[in-house]
Parts: sequence; C-alpha cells; structure tokens
Amino acid sequence: MTDQELVARAFSMHRFSYAPYSRFPVGAALLCRDGTVFTGCNVENAAFGSTICAERTALLKAVSEGHRDDWTTIAIAGRGGDYCWPCGSCRQMLYEFAPGLRVLAARGDGDFQAAALEELLPHGFGPRSLEGNK
Ligand code: THU
Repeated sequence: MTDQELVARAFSMHRFSYAPYSRFPVGAALLCRDGTVFTGCNVENAAFGSTICAERTALLKAVSEGHRDDWTTIAIAGRGGDYCWPCGSCRQMLYEFAPGLRVLAARGDGDFQAAALEELLPHGFGPRSLEGNK
C-alpha cells in the first residue's frame, strides 16, 4: 500500500466521524506489516474530555484485534489548512507499541507530510523506561 493510498483511507473515515462540538472531522489509518489496515475516526462526547481521537480509535481497534507489534505507518487526515499531526496523548499511546512508527499528517487539500514518531515525541517514556524499577 502506498502512502497516498493510506492517506486516502484516512480521509475516507471522515464520513464516520462524530464531531458535533468541534466540527473538525479526523480520520486515521494504521498500516501493519502484513498489509492489514485499521481505520478510525474521532468520536466526541458531550463531556468533552471523554472525546477520543481518530488515531486512538485505530490504535484500540488494532490492539484489541491482536495487532500490536507490527505497525509500520499511520496516516491522519484533517480538513484544516494545517497538517493534522497527532496530539500529545496520541503520540504517547502510539509510542507504547511502535516508537519507530512513520506518521503521515494530511491537511484538507490532500497534501501530506511524513515524520518519524520519535521526532514527534523525542525522549519518550515507554515500557523500557520502567525496566529496573524496584
Ligand atoms: N483530533 C483527532 O482526532 N486527532 C488529532 O490528531 C487531533 C485532534 C480530534 C479530537 C476532536 O474531536 C477534534 O479533533 C478537535 O480537537
């Protein structure tokens, strides 16, 4: 699957986005090494803090379906003029399973940029950070 195709999968998730409060639909598509793609959209809540981002929806679908150590790339698509880079909470959640993940951030006109998760979350706190704790 090309980066372009993965970004298209992320955009296609806007139709399922539930974003009545922000009116900012976001879609995500998480690619695994075997070609499996887990998609997600943002799901907002009247108790705003309970909102879940598109990336975390995709992440939870992957982990709960037994895919957690074979992720290669995640695409995230917003409709704004800025590239839709993942929020801090999503960076942290992704880092747990795939510090080396490639991240594609797309903006409303379809253009996208790529970065490594380790660039987006330098010196991240992960499972290894807990090693040796007594
Ligand atoms: N949002 C995402 O789904 N992913 C991001 O990376 C940024 C923000 C959602 C959360 C909320 O529903 C809306 O975008 C506005 O913050």
